Amino acid sequence: MRKKIVAGNWKMNMDYSTGIALAEGIRDYFKNKVPVCEVIICSPFIHLASLQNILKGSIIKYGAQNCHQEESGAYTGEISAGMIKSTGAEYVIIGHSERRTYFGEDDSLLNRKTKTALARGLKVIFCCGEVLAEREKEIHFEVVKRQLTDGLFNLTEEQMKNIVIAYEPVWAIGTGLTASPAQAQEMHRFIRENLEAGYGRKIAEETTILYGGSCKASNAAELFSMPDVDGGLIGGASLKKDEFCAIAEAVH
Ligand code: PGA
Repeated sequence: MRKKIVAGNWKMNMDYSTGIALAEGIRDYFKNKVPVCEVIICSPFIHLASLQNILKGSIIKYGAQNCHQEESGAYTGEISAGMIKSTGAEYVIIGHSERRTYFGEDDSLLNRKTKTALARGLKVIFCCGEVLAEREKEIHFEVVKRQLTDGLFNLTEEQMKNIVIAYEPVWAIGTGLTASPAQAQEMHRFIRENLEAGYGRKIAEETTILYGGSCKASNAAELFSMPDVDGGLIGGASLKKDEFCAIAEAVH
């Protein structure tokens, strides 16, 4: 059976000490009750090295929100996949819509980043999703298919085993508008069908597909009850310990 995951994406929030306190709070919450899903914290880079100690012996995993496409070199201000891995992090988010929109990251760049991250031993949470105008024009399936085909689907089967896909309709991110469970299921099913067409049934069945976009404790259970929704990528609600932990507990 495929892994269920709830991952928090802190984005550019939390300073050093508030981030550490939040990670400790989540760790302590799950000390004696093990959730059904894997719980991941994707923090700003500044927390990663400290999370290694804080989360030692805990079931909570952690990761970054971006990495550079090159292995190393003269790229002032950038962080490499190898550096992330050296902190003990297991995951990196690639292709978040905010990276696509504000930093001009396109499918081919995201494909390079994904391959570099995988080569350095990280697992990749690869994001896709349409903007509102694309859904209104009813080209959302086409858009997601293009993002996956150009960004992801030239990986090998072996590489694909270290990919988690996150479907995040951009119109639902940070807006309070959530995709309905039926809308999420429809797209997740579509993604899984495309996985099957490219990689066969086993990989399609084993790939975790997360929903992201205004997911919170009050709507998580319903979204996660959909057969192809394997958990969530959580933005705003991951900044509050109780809310985030409740979302993780909504996975059954
Ligand atoms: P949100 O963000 O939960 O704040 O909508 C989700 C995301 O961008 O990953």
